[in-house]
Amino acid sequence: MGNCFGFEKPSATPTVNGSTSSGLFTSKTNSSTTTNTTNSDARFSRSIGSSVGQDSITGEVDPNGTILETPNLRIFTFAELKNATKNFKPDTILGEGGFGRVFKGWVDEKTLNPAKSGCGMVVAVKKLNPESMQGLEEWQSEVNFLGRLSHPNLVRLLGYCWEDKELLLVYEFMAKGSLENHLFRRGVFQPLSWNFRLRILIGAARGLAFLHTSEKQVIYRDFKASNILLDSNYNAKISDFGLAKNGPTGGDSHVTTRVMGTYGYAAPEYVATGHLYVKSDVYGFGVVLLEMMTGQRALDTSRPSGQHNLVDWAKPFLSDRRRLVRIMDARLEGQFPSKAAFQAGQLTSRCLASDPKGRPSMKEVAETLEQIEAIKGGKSSSKDAATAAAKPLPSPYSAAASAAASNAPRHQARGQAPPPGTPPQHRSPLHPRHDAARQAHPLPPRLR
Ligand SMILES: Nc1ncnc2c1ncn2[C@@H]1O[C@H](COP(=O)(O)OP(=O)(O)OP(=O)(O)O)[C@@H](O)[C@H]1O
Ligand SMILES: [Mg+2]
Repeated sequence: MGNCFGFEKPSATPTVNGSTSSGLFTSKTNSSTTTNTTNSDARFSRSIGSSVGQDSITGEVDPNGTILETPNLRIFTFAELKNATKNFKPDTILGEGGFGRVFKGWVDEKTLNPAKSGCGMVVAVKKLNPESMQGLEEWQSEVNFLGRLSHPNLVRLLGYCWEDKELLLVYEFMAKGSLENHLFRRGVFQPLSWNFRLRILIGAARGLAFLHTSEKQVIYRDFKASNILLDSNYNAKISDFGLAKNGPTGGDSHVTTRVMGTYGYAAPEYVATGHLYVKSDVYGFGVVLLEMMTGQRALDTSRPSGQHNLVDWAKPFLSDRRRLVRIMDARLEGQFPSKAAFQAGQLTSRCLASDPKGRPSMKEVAETLEQIEAIKGGKSSSKDAATAAAKPLPSPYSAAASAAASNAPRHQARGQAPPPGTPPQHRSPLHPRHDAARQAHPLPPRLR
């Protein structure tokens, strides 16, 4: 993975006491902030006259977004995070992804010092699983990108810990968890209404648009429902910058990289050639848009053959008003203006264009979604709440497929775990671990 925002890649591994000799943050430190230092020094970095103190870590976010010169992060010791999460107690587990488990923790709002459970501010602590295929590179990318990017639709990274082999990340807590859970964990989460879906999509689109239009275009590279987190008001924020890359420079149209990503979401040109365009993210957004419209996962081998890949199967339905109705999520119970659904279908088609040049910019996507949101009428939102009661209409998929999808296991979520023994899905022969197809990893040159 290349350098992010021009930071030096660490050239050395951390030492036992947690100090590092890497150049991770040395290239552009401003003021008297010292972030490349031992953990014990770093704990006091705020009190040594930093211009980017703790208040700006937890304070207001500029609605237009900002990019900081240097990451503005609290460096935690492992002991502090152990403390904050009740020694990583299983009952604090919020979920689990390719990097490792995510725990709920409590810290003091002002100092970010660990607090007693139930006191102070809630945070999410992501801890590297030593057996993970991910590791230092993804962790570094998260720190270097998310630590500097600030926008209402990006999850806030508050700090990190790097001690010996322990790599952890501390984020703002997103009370409603991931969009993936809301869309696909049927029976656990109430269906999202049409208006909530649009609102979430608009937020996520604005987040991506901010990345794409920033001075150094940032390509996110892993856009998917599990990486969109929702706060207590269902505001969407993008998380997980482990695969993010700076966009092309010097007039180039793309950057060439090793193909990484998630089955079902990665753009075809990228999978085929390793050429990554800003518009490759737009394709991923189109896949999520399609998931939102249909209530179906991007990839689901429990669906009837020919329907495993959602894009391949559903794309032909998008441009025909009458056929579109057949693929709309039954859990919406027809509670959406048909004109709005049709326009959303057309936008989805454009995002999923085979040629990246044919895809709209994320700014245009966000604006179009705002126009779609303004369309009222039809059977729109008599139940405009995410908690609308579920009474599904007949699904375009077989009853068996729908039942299997509704039980689809995901990383264990607190209080939301599927019944024990539920078979994992989307196993790939290349990545035969649980839920591998939905986790970010190197992709083979041919997906389909
Ligand atoms: N900041 C957060 N606040 C609340 N819950 C979170 C937060 N970050 C992650 N989670 C929970 O932890 C789960 C796992 O997140 P994680 O990003 O590690 O994996 P993933 O996105 O599911 O998979 P991948 O490894 O492909 O990114 C999420 O689905 C969500 O439920
Ligand atoms: Mg994720």
